[in-house]
Amino acid sequence: MILVTGATGTVGSATVAALRAKDVDLRAASRSPEKAMALGVPAVELDWDRPETLAGAVAGVEKAFLLTPVTNQLGSMTRAFVDAAKQAGVRHVVKLSAIGAGPESIALGRQHGAGEEVIQSSGLDWTMLQPNSFAQNFVNYYGVDPAGDCTVSLPLGDGKASWIDARDVAEVAAAVLTDDGHNGKTYVLTGPTALSAAEALATLGEALGHTYTYVDVSEDESRRAMDEAGIPAWLIDAYSELNAVIKNGYASGVAPGMREVLDREGRTFAEFARDLAAGR
Ligand SMILES: NC(=O)c1ccc[n+]([C@@H]2O[C@H](COP(=O)([O-])OP(=O)(O)OC[C@H]3O[C@@H](n4cnc5c(N)ncnc54)[C@H](OP(=O)(O)O)[C@@H]3O)[C@@H](O)[C@H]2O)c1
Repeated sequence: MILVTGATGTVGSATVAALRAKDVDLRAASRSPEKAMALGVPAVELDWDRPETLAGAVAGVEKAFLLTPVTNQLGSMTRAFVDAAKQAGVRHVVKLSAIGAGPESIALGRQHGAGEEVIQSSGLDWTMLQPNSFAQNFVNYYGVDPAGDCTVSLPLGDGKASWIDARDVAEVAAAVLTDDGHNGKTYVLTGPTALSAAEALATLGEALGHTYTYVDVSEDESRRAMDEAGIPAWLIDAYSELNAVIKNGYASGVAPGMREVLDREGRTFAEFARDLAAGR
């Protein structure tokens, strides 16, 4: 039995789809099992704010895909999960981490690094997936409207990033959860080329038949916009650090993880855009 946490989100839902295609015994976790059942697999309640739900989620599970929401409590959250998993006899945890995770990283990477550390010292088998920023962020977070023209304001300058399609992350997760030979491995996952935000928006515009105008804003302007959107102060700091990493070109490298696991490159940004336009 494989457990997929965060199953209703961007990576989690694609992971469930990729595992369904492999016809394996599968369970999807969500705060709302009714919502997860729409994925077409058995569902279980898991709410990180209600640790008493952990034991039921991991009962009878052999391998778990651990996808945690963005939080500044990742060390303790992972500890609670690992404790319940060990108690239940889970054998292998595949963690969705982030590129550059570790104690010397930016805040989001330090959080994931703390989670990795808990798993690596747990005695359980483990695999770490360390993706770069998702192509889907343009729609999920940056304000691209697939249905019409818009401006997109970001503090990314002309910094390029090797955006990865979240579906590729999911296909790697499904492979690692179902094939042998991935214990103790860390896979850094990126797209095959790096694009600036303006280039990515032009690619999306071409595919979707709209005009997406990039507006470069200062970090202060970006912080003000996040504050007005109700994002908590610690997360504004964390996102601002991440934006500076992209702006300064540190997210532009291309890593071998996709080829190591799936023996292929990640989807190009143009493929992501074409599929979005086609409703895939
Ligand atoms: N976005 C990026 O570019 C990027 C890059 C690298 C790494 N990451 C990492 O990827 C992860 C996010 O993945 P994603 O974008 O696929 O997530 P997402 O679409 O935001 O979905 C988050 C999932 O977490 C669940 N969730 C939220 N709060 C919860 C809670 N309190 N208890 C239980 N479940 C909860 C939600 O399910 P329900 O609402 O159904 O409960 C949802 O399925 C984070 O760890 C992030 O650091 C993201």
